[in-house]
Amino acid sequence: MPEAVRHVVCRLEEIPDPGARGFSLPGARFPDEYFLVHWYGAVYAYHNVCPHAGRFLNWKPDAFLTRDLSLIMCSGHGALFEPASGQCVAGPCVGHALESLPAAVEDGEVVVYAAEPEEIKKLDF
Ligand code: FES
Repeated sequence: MPEAVRHVVCRLEEIPDPGARGFSLPGARFPDEYFLVHWYGAVYAYHNVCPHAGRFLNWKPDAFLTRDLSLIMCSGHGALFEPASGQCVAGPCVGHALESLPAAVEDGEVVVYAAEPEEIKKLDF
């Protein structure tokens, strides 16, 4: 299993609280393959893949939360997820959850720990 690598994403104050922000990691196939949720002082990181049909959740950059900022919402078919757990609480994938990444705030920076994608390993010369 590949070793997790520390990635600095941004400073915590760059994300409203509550709020969300898409981001990519080196070797990502698409922009914003992941997203952060800043949630009442805590931060969570998820893969930007809906467990219902595998779509990106957001419909425009950083648009991951409901209008009232209370839940994560998938723009595909409206599934709703709890920000702190990633559990689907309404919609077509109740009982499933977003895939999370380890995330932390270190000296004001949001960091995530993720394995290097296999694609990077294959291109390593
Ligand atoms: S793809 Fe997210 S609810 Fe259907």
